[in-house]
Amino acid sequence: MATRVVRSVRQMQGLAGRLRCQGRVGFVPTMGYLHEGHLDLVRRCNRLVDSTVVSIFVNPAQFGPKEDLARYPRDFDRDRKLLEREGVDIVFCPKASDMYPPGYATWVEVDRLTTGMCGRFRSGHFRGVATVVLKLFNIVRPHVAVFGAKDWQQAAVIRRIAADLDTGTRIVVAPTTREKDGLAMSSRNTYLSRPQRAEAPVLYRALRDARRLVADGERDAGKVARRVRQMVRGRSSGSVQYVEVVDPDTLEPVRRISGPVVIALAVWFGKTRLIDNTLCKPG
Ligand code: PAJ
Repeated sequence: MATRVVRSVRQMQGLAGRLRCQGRVGFVPTMGYLHEGHLDLVRRCNRLVDSTVVSIFVNPAQFGPKEDLARYPRDFDRDRKLLEREGVDIVFCPKASDMYPPGYATWVEVDRLTTGMCGRFRSGHFRGVATVVLKLFNIVRPHVAVFGAKDWQQAAVIRRIAADLDTGTRIVVAPTTREKDGLAMSSRNTYLSRPQRAEAPVLYRALRDARRLVADGERDAGKVARRVRQMVRGRSSGSVQYVEVVDPDTLEPVRRISGPVVIALAVWFGKTRLIDNTLCKPG
């Protein structure tokens, strides 16, 4: 089947009903400007289902007033071609005015999971993500939805929504796709200047170093986080917003490491904020 581009919510709902009659429906929500990380999610999704829907929607509700909504990179024609090549059935790219028409007043708030990490610095961000993902689930009604571990907190929030609000969607979380030098792929990497791009792989090196520290027996989460900060500060011009060691599911901060933890960070390179994380297990 050729890839179909759908722009209206009503039309997508109609087609989604038909797709469901034909078999299992998979869904990969994105904000476009696709890279190999996104395409890996699409390929995983294709393997699990009979038809795949990918959304491209730069969701205004998840950007703060001082964030990069207006300059967020966009290239719809390129994205469409890439998705066609992957055999995606439907590319859903609604207009903001169709998703949030005048009078729009309903928001999804997820407690606890959204207070730490990125939630501490991006007020309203996860409310915007939670709301748009639930709306997209209601429109597409997928059996399976695939998200990336790169946005660990986002994936945890979405797993919670699917369980708490009975969406009937299986949430699959795929590992982070990285550039050869370890930098996690991100649409925002295009903002980096050459020197910033050269420094940015320090994030993954610091996380890998921390993972080794934990595997070698370090149990003090504070020490591990300090080591990551020091490495990023010492070897780049990046300004650390946070480094946290948390429980992989509840995202509660951990002090003594006794089981699997996620070490997550956000670092500014000039005006570009990058995030990354790693799951690690004590030796
Ligand atoms: P976006 O940043 O476009 O990412 C879409 C999906 O791709 C998310 O599940 C994200 O975790 C995943 N992803 C991004 N970079 C990745 C990488 N390097 N490796 C693996 N997966 C990666 O995340 C969003 O859009 C939005 O918040 C969205 C969920 C679409 C809601 O608006």
